[in-house]
Amino acid sequence: MSIKRLDELTIGMVLASDLKAEDGRPLFMAGIELGERHIELLKRVGVKEIDVEASVLDLSEETLREIEDYVRDFFLYVDPDFPPCIEMFKIALDLTAQAVADGWDLPDPSQRRAENVEHMEDLFTKGMGSPDTIVKHETELSSFPDIYFRIREILEDESASADRIAQVVGTDMSLSAKLLKLVNSPFYGFPQSIDSISRAVALVGAKELSTLALGISAINYFKDIPPELVDMKSFWRHSITCGILAKVLAGTQTGLSPERFFIAGLLHDVGQLIMYKKLPYASTEAMLFARENSIPLVEAERSVMGFCHTDISKPLLESWKFPEGLSNMVNYHHNPMEFPNPLEPAIIHVADTLSNAVEISQGGMYVLPNLDPDAWELLGIDPSALDEAVAEYRKQIDIIINAFF
Ligand SMILES: [Fe+2]
Ligand SMILES: [Fe+2]
Repeated sequence: MSIKRLDELTIGMVLASDLKAEDGRPLFMAGIELGERHIELLKRVGVKEIDVEASVLDLSEETLREIEDYVRDFFLYVDPDFPPCIEMFKIALDLTAQAVADGWDLPDPSQRRAENVEHMEDLFTKGMGSPDTIVKHETELSSFPDIYFRIREILEDESASADRIAQVVGTDMSLSAKLLKLVNSPFYGFPQSIDSISRAVALVGAKELSTLALGISAINYFKDIPPELVDMKSFWRHSITCGILAKVLAGTQTGLSPERFFIAGLLHDVGQLIMYKKLPYASTEAMLFARENSIPLVEAERSVMGFCHTDISKPLLESWKFPEGLSNMVNYHHNPMEFPNPLEPAIIHVADTLSNAVEISQGGMYVLPNLDPDAWELLGIDPSALDEAVAEYRKQIDIIINAFF
């Protein structure tokens, strides 16, 4: 926000906070765009200063150049002439410029450099431990909560009644609360408030609600990862961003259930969480390697460990008996064209790349992985659809993060 004198106001500026007259009378609400009529009225009532949203137009040429250089560094691996990449670059540039206008300082490049990781100890030293043995170690040690498997059963059972779903989900208070927050958010946009799981099942659909419940109960499994290993807040923010974008992109195709894409997006990097748990030293090394050499994180994992997070998610999701269609979206999000039926993983692939572009303005640390042109072509959409997806994401992200954490 920025404080402007009355003579500095121009048409189109947006009010950053509610405006009151000197006698306390409310004048205008935050968020309105100032027109000629508003400015005239403000002059008449004698308001001296008003708080408007910071404008990118106020940034100096030099700052804009710095922003462009900063953003460009993240696009080293994508084809600069490929239309969706040009669109993603524009999106990242706009969001970063807005963040700077709002007072965000461009991070110093030194912030992307090494920190001390010597104290960390891996359960498996480099060269030992294949994805399979690592996952086996994890799944033998701790099991999923019972509720996950009960929902899994319902998902498999075509004849499960809405009542039964409501009954099973209803036994877990925290899961029910999260689901209700989600279905009451603008994500669904139902006009009336939904106050029970059975009502949610009726409105969202039995399969759809069970899919959401399954994904959310899986997330709970990771709630105890120590924060010193990884910034869990950024991890889940990236995952939720990918989930929202994947859901919106799935909506551009016919016949796809958006809930499945939200959940696949939410869990797409789940293999990384097992890496952080089992190989904290090597995964931190991979993160630092990616930052220092400006290479995508997935490439750094392969260089440091010899495998990447989707190699881990394959045996992991299999042992959880995660629904196959969802698992494929997760497991192939970095190489969708290697999957025989690539449209679904391709949607997660595009959503993930776009999530990385969006995160540049939030202090994201990693360069974008390359966007597979064949995967993009499969979606058959115009690059401007990316802009629309991001607009939708901006409306929903804070509400959905609040619903989950
Ligand atoms: Fe990934
Ligand atoms: Fe990702």
